[in-house]
Amino acid sequence: DGASHFRAQLESGEYRERGIQVCTHGLIKLAFLASKTRCKFFSLTETPEDYTIIVDEEGFKELPQSEHISVADATWLALNVVSGGGASNSQPIGVTKIAKSVIAPLADHNISVFMLSTYQTDFILVRERDLPMVMHTLSSEFTLLRVVNGETVATHDLGVTNGFVKPKLAPRPIIHPLSSPSNMFCVTSLDPDTLPSVATLLMDVMFYSGGSKEAGASSEDSSHIRFFSFSLIEGYISLVMDEQTTQRFPNNVLFTSASGELWKMVRIGGQPLGFDECGIVAQISEPLATADIPAYYISTFKFDHALVPEENIQSVIGALRTKSTAE
Ligand code: ARG
Repeated sequence: DGASHFRAQLESGEYRERGIQVCTHGLIKLAFLASKTRCKFFSLTETPEDYTIIVDEEGFKELPQSEHISVADATWLALNVVSGGGASNSQPIGVTKIAKSVIAPLADHNISVFMLSTYQTDFILVRERDLPMVMHTLSSEFTLLRVVNGETVATHDLGVTNGFVKPKLAPRPIIHPLSSPSNMFCVTSLDPDTLPSVATLLMDVMFYSGGSKEAGASSEDSSHIRFFSFSLIEGYISLVMDEQTTQRFPNNVLFTSASGELWKMVRIGGQPLGFDECGIVAQISEPLATADIPAYYISTFKFDHALVPEENIQSVIGALRTKSTAE
């Protein structure tokens, strides 16, 4: 399979309450008036603890500098895997299909990643400074292409190594605590042409749904989690939201793969995970790939989130718990 590696710089930020107010002007432009910007990569994910923004350098210019925004220090590059032809019908969805070929080898070479699954594809963010090592790690299995200023150029393995010897199928225990919120999620997309018709609703969901009204409803069920993710990448929109939120949309506006599948979340992390540790995504995605269970995976500023089909959640939790050293 051919693979493509692409593109510009990424920055990620976080803020809450005051922070959302400081940023709303820029975020509305990035989400709804993208043609007024040169941003090609934008994602916004709301969790109970923060909002995580991933933007390219052009998008970053739209955001103010503020004490309410923390910016991850390194510049990250987004890789995505494009499989070339072949019998692709039976290909598993999401991180499951790249767990063994991409995620595990990067973890084995001590490369920290940051994941963003969307409706369309899965982005693996790596630090720009790790790129030579990433290329070295993946060059045996993939053709790596880099998009620079809109042009695709081949990259060459510089023969770099960090002296790390690949362990022979070393077991990969799960070291961070896991939890599973009660809500069910949908991974959906939207035709960009219909975005204006749902813009008001989306603004409500993105910026005003944490308000007191909903807080009352969610406190009835303590394991219900606030989670919403919007991304607009290269013109493609992806939305991850819980089932209740999808019901606020007009019929036929959202598309879902297959017959409206529902997903449950496994949340990874007790203390904030930071950006340096490697192997977390591998610890979760490898057992899922072995069991052939599709999964989406979204990293946020503090924690990681895997989405697995609703019907698999019990077996997933069971399988991951046996590998867990956290409890
Ligand atoms: N760096 C981790 C890994 O390589 C995944 C990201 C965890 N950190 C975070 N802030 N979500 O597996």
